Amino acid sequence: MIARAAANGLKVGIRGIGASVPSRIVSNSEIAELVETSDEWIVERTGIRERRVAEPGVGASELAVPAARDALRAAQVDASSLDLVIVATITPDMPFPATAAFLADELGAGKVAAYDLQAGCTGFVYALSQAYGSIAAGLAKRVLVVGVDLLTKYLDWHDRGTCVLFGDGAGAAVVETVGEGGFLGFELGNDGSHADDLCVPAGGTRAPATTATVDQKLHTMRMNGREVFKFATRVMVTSAERVLGIAGMQPEDVDLYAPHQANKRIIDHAVRQLGIPSERVILNVDRYGNTSAASIPICLAESLRNGMLRPGTTLLMTGVGTGLSWGSALMVWGDAVSGSHDGARG
Ligand code: UT7
Repeated sequence: MIARAAANGLKVGIRGIGASVPSRIVSNSEIAELVETSDEWIVERTGIRERRVAEPGVGASELAVPAARDALRAAQVDASSLDLVIVATITPDMPFPATAAFLADELGAGKVAAYDLQAGCTGFVYALSQAYGSIAAGLAKRVLVVGVDLLTKYLDWHDRGTCVLFGDGAGAAVVETVGEGGFLGFELGNDGSHADDLCVPAGGTRAPATTATVDQKLHTMRMNGREVFKFATRVMVTSAERVLGIAGMQPEDVDLYAPHQANKRIIDHAVRQLGIPSERVILNVDRYGNTSAASIPICLAESLRNGMLRPGTTLLMTGVGTGLSWGSALMVWGDAVSGSHDGARG
């Protein structure tokens, strides 16, 4: 799925952004007490030094609330003015109803349309495209897009192939028409032949929870790391090239690149292939690990605060994750501001 945005002159962009992460920091050394690994191995093979882990009892909507409030405050709008809340997550509060239902209620958004979108680490980019599409089609004027995941809740803390990689986090954006800048294009895809390469096998309708599924640890994440790595290195580049192509741009036109933060080696490969200078690349995987759907909005909130992201910046975002899915969004940043993301909540 690929489309040039703003072709009809309609400018839709991000008005305000927010992020929140749990306060508890778990270092590589702490994980090395659980499985046979080391800080050196994790840093060298992934670039991750630490991650945030939510406390027991904290669910996706609870972590998302401060991020959403920050985004609304930054946009200077009230939750009651929203037409739609989209929560991108693969770690919902419950199998149903949607986490968006809990979040919208907690925010005081009233009877707003609210649903979850499941596209793993690509979820935020998918949700931005849906927000754009809803506004462009006249279905909505103002959309809250949230990316939140607490994948530490689905980890087998004795599987060193996965437990070193993930952290918890949330990010949110208010999407509406803007005076300056806005989205230039989207490119989204999925290859379901790789669906089993990154999954939680039980807990759905194929294998509902039984004592046997619990005993076999089928409610925790399974990942074919090498396959996902190969896939990610390929699509991070092809997706970015496609979205730039539809907008008539080249990699050198990108002022700021917000790649999904899964593994520094995947990002380094994409940056090398695309030829984007390293000073234009956002990197925070060292501090948060892979926060899935939250990784790109956390990057945006931090970049706004540290001045890397400014009005007029041409911003490229690319995600890749379970599905296996991928997606890119290209935009020119308007005058949106960041909420008071202090990196320690939940
Ligand atoms: O958003 C998408 C989500 N997922 C990803 O992006 C993950 C993509 N995959 C990866 O990032 C990498 O494949 C991993 C970080 C998961 C693994 O790194 P790798 O360099 O591909 O390692 P490998 O799977 O090829 O394994 C190399 C060795 C193996 O030992 P042997 O068989 O050579 O003796 C593993 O058992 O490294 C071992 N290993 C570890 N050693 C220490 C795997 N995990 C660990 C670990 N600590 N945590």
